[in-house]
Order: sequence, then structure tokens, then C-alpha cells
Amino acid sequence: MMGPFYATTPIYYVNDLPHIGHIYTSVVTDTVTRYHRLIGEKTRFLTGTDEHGQNIEKAAAAQGVTPIALADRVVARYRDLYRKFEIAHDDFIRTTEERHRRGVEALIARIEKAGDLYVARHEGWYCASCEAFYTEKEIGVEKLCPDHGRPCTWESEENVFFRLSKYAGPLLAHYEKNQEFVRPETRRAEVVSFVRGGLNDLSVSRTNFDWGIPFPGHPGHVVYVWMDALTNYITALGFGSDDDRLYREFWESPGGRRVHFIGKDILRFHAVYWPAFLLSAGLPLPTTVWAHGWWLRDERKMSKSVGNVVRPDALVERFGSDALRYFLMREMAFGQDASFSDQAFLERYNADLANDLGNTVSRVAALCRQAFGGRTPGEACTDNQVLDASREALREWRAAMEERGLSRALEAVWKFLAQINGHVVAREPWKVLKEEGASARLSRILYAAAEGVRLAGALLSPFVPSTSRRIFAALGLPAEDPRSEDLSWGRLPLGAPMPEAPPLFPRADPGAYFSEKDATMSEKPASPQPAATEMGRERHESASGGRISMEDFQKVQLVTGKVLAAERVPRSNKLIQMRVDLGTEERQIVAGIATHYEPESLVGRNVVIVANLKPAKLMGVESNGMVLAATVGEEGAPSLVVVDESVPPGSLVK
Ligand code: MSP
Repeated sequence: MMGPFYATTPIYYVNDLPHIGHIYTSVVTDTVTRYHRLIGEKTRFLTGTDEHGQNIEKAAAAQGVTPIALADRVVARYRDLYRKFEIAHDDFIRTTEERHRRGVEALIARIEKAGDLYVARHEGWYCASCEAFYTEKEIGVEKLCPDHGRPCTWESEENVFFRLSKYAGPLLAHYEKNQEFVRPETRRAEVVSFVRGGLNDLSVSRTNFDWGIPFPGHPGHVVYVWMDALTNYITALGFGSDDDRLYREFWESPGGRRVHFIGKDILRFHAVYWPAFLLSAGLPLPTTVWAHGWWLRDERKMSKSVGNVVRPDALVERFGSDALRYFLMREMAFGQDASFSDQAFLERYNADLANDLGNTVSRVAALCRQAFGGRTPGEACTDNQVLDASREALREWRAAMEERGLSRALEAVWKFLAQINGHVVAREPWKVLKEEGASARLSRILYAAAEGVRLAGALLSPFVPSTSRRIFAALGLPAEDPRSEDLSWGRLPLGAPMPEAPPLFPRADPGAYFSEKDATMSEKPASPQPAATEMGRERHESASGGRISMEDFQKVQLVTGKVLAAERVPRSNKLIQMRVDLGTEERQIVAGIATHYEPESLVGRNVVIVANLKPAKLMGVESNGMVLAATVGEEGAPSLVVVDESVPPGSLVK
């Protein structure tokens, strides 16, 4: 008997706002957990935030707030995004919670009892960003952190140590006996080779800052942030508290699966330190640590410290969260790295979602409505090619999902959609309708197509839950998440009313998308703190690594201009069109600043214009130049670059 399925995301640091990389892990975990729930298994899904440590303390100080106030702010952001992305977690743990502290203390008490803690002076090369020590070999002669590329510093302090070295043998035995413990295979090999190289004892307390859990029995020491953080996976289940029923059900049940989904950047912590702590404490280990690859921008890991992150907000606002969920799951072969670009997103949006999925659903629904007076077919069909194809699709989808081949599972659904389309094209129901009217034969043909679409909707529900519900609604079914029985053929109601539904994914016009984005971007010169709407950024960055020559700069003609008139561009909530006096001529210029400026307030202002840009159409309105603005804060609010009133229009800016 298969035990319960417990899945976790890493707990995210609160010194950064969520970007595509963080959202990816959460969507993966959500998709996999939804799959297990769909096939009828008992599941639990945990996520949360990692709120202690020196980096958080520093980030809060830099912003002039307390660490907990910073954490509250970022947690609110995660909660908001999780709601938008329909991340269906059962629990959200914060390491500053009391229940967590109690659990960490309980774990440390067991490790202490096992005789695995001692105090010693600790010296070594330390990366403050990772809050981890590295060996000389790992950081090379230049002493650069292998993850961040930043210089490591030599640190020396008295710490509590954990006897990690004692667990190298038991860990290797565990990896050997449990081939599923680290996935995929390449990561497993990496971990095995790291542990074979020998393990040093690990310092698990810090004395150089206070923002952490006090180390029991060692005044002045706080618990090492990774020991604190990793323990969340059991403290959230009530480990160390009076009520530990969830802990016993999801961490100790025989046959239970305990899966940590993480990025490969934090593999060592999860596949070496965490199981060693658990071995020492005499507790069960996770069954699998699944390490996925990185989302890259310009061939580098997307991360705050590199400054190349993409925030999901603008894409979600424009295309809906399911479009992004789909893209993230489809584009990255789980385990490998992938590059994020707007171009690729739009291509998949139009080809896969608007065309393959959206058109198939609306075509089949329209054919049924047309043939049967706005209702589903009145007769079922249990012998047709779509039924055969559905069996194969279900098999392939299930096998891929069990293997966490999320992209492959989607491919299986897309193959099935093509087969449904093939059935419609081959049976020509429009001809049958003409020749026979709403005959029993027509009913069976369209039943096969509509039931196929329903099943495809069910297979898609772990990936794009809201789209799946909309597909059901278009077929006259309740707009609910499906259950395991909905994975069998024959659940489409006969003769049920089919409400007319808008297209699932209206086609996007990439030209209009990029020009509107450029208008917004034009108000956002490259900033070290990237703004919220920065997709398409690669279109603005030169291939030369960011710097341009003076010669290149001089190609850009910057002049002052006085705004003569301004009004909103119809149907756009971002764009304002203005008439601007450039001294020698008047220009019409469109700018994406309507979210923060009233048109009337612009009249009479002296602004800075890029005067020699090729004209572009934004929402159908021609723009002959670009207005400069600074971007402020995470949301990238525009703030116009203005010059003194006395400067005559057309003056050169350089
Ligand atoms: N707080 C630690 C984790 C503690 S878990 C006990 C941490 N937090 S983090 O905010 O840096 O987020 C880490 C996770 O976010 C990564 O492991 C990964 O899952 C995800 N990602 C962050 N950047 C990413 C990419 N560029 N690409 C894919 N995922 C990435 O580390």
C-alpha cells in the first residue's frame, strides 16, 4: 500500500522578492502534488520562508526596517503571487514562528544526545551570500565563491560543531541502497563523489550576529541558518510539539513519500547535511531530493546578485498565470537548465495555447453547440480512435508524471490534442450535419471529440488548473478540479447545456507586445536594481557585456522638448500620447507612463527625448521618439527626467 505523498519547496529567503526561478520551484511542486491528489493519493504540500541569518539582518538594516518587518513584506508578496498562481499549499511555514523554534530545539536536543556536537575554534573561507564555508579547492586561487562568483573572506570564530565526518560512511550506504534518494542521476553522482571526497565536521552555530534561533545551551550563539532552515520540513508537521500527528503521518508512515523539490544550487545542504542531521537524531530521511536546473538569462543563473531576474508580475497581468505555469513546465526539461525569454514565451503562448489547445476546445464546443442546439451530444460512443488515443495518452502522461518528466507529460497531452483534431478532420462532422442533421452517428463522432477534450482538460489540471476548469465549463460540466474517476472515459454528460465561452487564450500580437513593452522599457534605462517589468530586457542590452563605446553613445541624439499637449491612448492603461516641441519641429511621442502621470500634469514640462529613434506604432499610435524616465522601486514606477524651465526646447543633452 502506497503511503502519503509529502512535497516541499525550499523555503525562500526574504531578502529578495520572488522571481521566475522561485516561482518555478513552487509551480513544479504544486503540479506534482496536484497530480498525486488527482490520482487519488493523500498529499500534503509545504512551502514557506527562510527569515533568519546575517543576509536578512543586513538587508533589513539597509532598508531601515527590522528584519521581521522586511520578512512580513516579502511574505505578503509570496502569498499574493501564490494566490495568483493557484499554488495549493497546505501550509506556509516561517522560520520566525514559535512552532519552528521549538522543533529546531527538539532536533538539536536529539543530536546532542547522540554525542554529535562539540565546541571548537572555526576558521575557513566563508561566502556571506551563501552563509557557508568553502574549501580551498572549491574557491580556487582567486578565492571566489563557486555559486556567486564573489570573494570569500577568511573567518575565525568559536562555534558549536556537528560531527558530519562521522556520517560519510552511513550516507554513502544510504545513497547506494536508495537509488531514488537524489534525482536526477547526474546530481546523485555529484553528491556521491562529494561525500567520497570526505566530509569535514560542520560548524552549526554563529556568534557574529544575533538574528537567529538562540543555540540551546550556548549563550551568545545562534543556530547556523541552514540547520535552522532545513528543519522546517519537520517542524511544520509539528515535530517537537505536543501535537505531532501530522509529523507521524507524513514523515514516519511506512511507504510514505517525502520529496524535497529544490534548485541544484542547494543540493549539498539537502542531500548531505540534512540527512546527516536526521541520521544523528535517529529520524527517517526524506525519500527523494529532486534537484532541478536553473532558469538562465544571458547564459547566467537568474539571481538577484547577478541582477538579471525576471519578475512574473507583468506577464501574469497580461497573459494570466496559467500561461506562465504552462511555459515554465513545458520549456524546461525537468532537471536541466533553460533560458527565459519573452520571445520563447510568446511563441509557445500562440502556438501551443492559443492555437493547439484553445482552438481545439473552441472548435469542438462550437461544432457540438451548432449540431445539438447548444448542448452536448445526446449519444455516447465507446468505440473510436479518440478513445484508443486517450488510453495511450493517459499511460504516457502517468509514466512521465511519476518520473517528474513534466515537459514530456505535456507533450503526451499535445499529441492527444492533435489526435482529437485528426478525428474531427477525418470524420468531417460539418458534412454529416448537412447530410443527416443531428443524427446518432453525428452524436457519436462529436461525443468522441468532446469527451477527448474533457479528458485532455483533466490531464492538464495539475499544470493549468484554471484553464482546465474553463474547459470543463465550456463542455457543460461544473468548473471544478477533477477527481481520479474523471480520468476514465465516459464522464461527459449527454444533452447538457454548453454555455458559449470566450477563447481560452486570445492570440497575442508579438509586434504590439514588444512595442508596448519598449514604450514602458524606454522609461526604464538599465538600472542595477531591475524593475518589475523587465522581460524583453535582452533586446536592450548590447552583446558587449553592458558597456558601449563613446562612438556608440554619440549615435543617440538626446534633446530637450517641451510638452505642448498630452492625452491617454485609447484602450491602453499605460500609454500617453504627447505633442512635443523640439525647437525646430513638433513631434508626436507615445510613452508608457500613464500609470503614474495624469496627461494634464505633463503639459509645459521640459523633458528629455531620444530624437533619432525610428518611428514605432504603439497600440496603433505612431511614436516619433522616446521620453526618458527613471524607474523607481521594485514596481519600476516611472519618474520623468525633467530639465530646468529656462532651457529652450531642442537643446542637446550629452
Ligand atoms: N533559503 C534557502 C533555501 C532553504 S531550504 C531549507 C534558499 N533560498 S532562495 O530564496 O535563494 O531560493 C532558493 C530556491 O529558489 C532554489 O533552490 C531554487 O529552487 C529557486 N531558484 C532561485 N533562482 C533560481 C533560478 N534562476 N532558476 C531556477 N530556480 C531558482 O536558497
